[in-house]
Amino acid sequence: MCGIACVAGDSNSAKYCYEALSQLEYRGYDSAGIAGIIEREIEIFKKEGRVKNIQSFADEFKAELVISHTRWATHGKPSDINSHPHLSNDKKIAIVHNGIIENYKDIKKHCQSQGVVFASDTDSECISQLISIEQGNILEKVKAATSMLKGSYALGILSLEDNAIVACAKESPLYIAKTTNGNMVASDVICFNGIASEYYAVKQNEYVLITKDEIIVYTKDFEKKKVQYLSLDSLNINVDLAGNKYYMLKEIKEIPKVINKIASTTEQINSKVLKLFEGKKTIKIIGCGTAYHASMYGAKVLQDALRVPCDACVASEFIYANNIIDSKTLCIFVSQSGETADTLSAQKLCKQSGAKTLAITNVEYSALAKVCDEYLSVYAGREIAVASTKAYIAQILIFYLLAKKLKGESFDLKPLEKSAKQMIKIDEELVNYVTKENKIFYLGRQLDYVSALEAALKLKEITYKGAEGYAAGELKHGTIALIEDNTLVIVFATDEAIIDKTLSGLQEVKARGAKIVLVSYKKYKTKDADYFIEVPKLDKELSCILSILPLQLLAFKVCIKLNLNPDKPRNLAKSVTVE
Ligand code: AGP
Repeated sequence: MCGIACVAGDSNSAKYCYEALSQLEYRGYDSAGIAGIIEREIEIFKKEGRVKNIQSFADEFKAELVISHTRWATHGKPSDINSHPHLSNDKKIAIVHNGIIENYKDIKKHCQSQGVVFASDTDSECISQLISIEQGNILEKVKAATSMLKGSYALGILSLEDNAIVACAKESPLYIAKTTNGNMVASDVICFNGIASEYYAVKQNEYVLITKDEIIVYTKDFEKKKVQYLSLDSLNINVDLAGNKYYMLKEIKEIPKVINKIASTTEQINSKVLKLFEGKKTIKIIGCGTAYHASMYGAKVLQDALRVPCDACVASEFIYANNIIDSKTLCIFVSQSGETADTLSAQKLCKQSGAKTLAITNVEYSALAKVCDEYLSVYAGREIAVASTKAYIAQILIFYLLAKKLKGESFDLKPLEKSAKQMIKIDEELVNYVTKENKIFYLGRQLDYVSALEAALKLKEITYKGAEGYAAGELKHGTIALIEDNTLVIVFATDEAIIDKTLSGLQEVKARGAKIVLVSYKKYKTKDADYFIEVPKLDKELSCILSILPLQLLAFKVCIKLNLNPDKPRNLAKSVTVE
């Protein structure tokens, strides 16, 4: 979380930073700030709240060297004082930071023992203070300071005395580029869209010196390093809203196109990928949030295909679970961003335990894609809205194809693409009903249970309503106590082998006064359901993909009715780069 953008350019550098921050807001929007050198002094402007709060300052601020930040708060509540940039006591160093400094209390004590007075409650401030009390030139100071830090960081450091920006990173993404706006550092290549043709991903133990004239990458021994810049052309970083007001709606509408793209790129599931499965005794599929739900889908379809135990695991729990992982285990990591810290830590652990690793991600230049043995793209195209929609569909479709290829079965995604176009609609009366409700249950069994969890998460994260996904048969073991007259229960029933049992669950809640939405095939339409969402009948693994689409749209429409911003829900960030 948090996004940093730094520019060494002309006197409009602050304006360029503001434009970059607007692109990075998906990484957090608790506060924003900017710092630059004006008349031999570091001047800072920072404000709690959205990036737009600093726009008028950025427009007027005529500095050539500028660092900037958009924050997702970890240590210290969102406030002006806790916003970045953080300035050292001697006013010679300002920093912006993405990551977490785990030993910040020790560093703080160390600095305080040398007379430093801290202004904020953040972990990040210790970095500016520490750099300023180190000895040597700016690179030596940064190296000495960062060698004391435990945790993760991508840093933009503004040095008054050197009239330069220094950047370095450990376990947090950071990119550099020579752009038409000047020499730039940013947390995401998205900031270089349309203004650069090449980028370079900063590696651990590299120190980058950025001035108006040049970008120099140094090794840890301060030798100049010739680095290979990569082309931005092949990266799908266009973030045009295509006439929509919100990214979330645009991204839902793109789902049929994404299905088409996946259908035309199935050759990526090649013999090298399939070989990873050979001789494996267990498969662990690991992710967070929506990617965890996709992992659940993956575990079910791969276990059915291979008859090998497959477990879906929440990454943040997996790390501490004392799992049995060895060379006979295949670990698959699912992540839209490929930068989720919990998922990356789990990957590291699996790798160290001798397992082979496969990444399923939407960002081919992400850390996850780089560290895994093999990598499958979900080809969803850039996803900006915090609530994942098209990437989820793409992830589970990749699992469907993997299962098919492992079984040696043919597949045809054309009917899925066609039906997906029809499924992006929702009854406005239902939208109005949900808008007024505060407690909504989603039920299903097996793959439908995965849909129930995912649909509930969508509603929760963008409407802040109490929404719970439940295994249809589990509700009666306690949670059914919450059902009262008119409680809304949405029942997914697309698995015909167990549909009778699922429909019994519907009757159980109906008998207790629940209002029912049934998501199923035409032949199961019943008067017992107050609303019916018809799902086209395909393979059950594909029909369950279709069943989620109207519920994604439902969450979006309720959010709009509530006058909330679906792209930037409170407390959340798109990319969670801290554990
Ligand atoms: C999705 O709607 C959520 N915003 C969230 O659960 C997300 O899926 C999770 O943080 C994992 O992100 P990743 O796919 O980028 O790893």
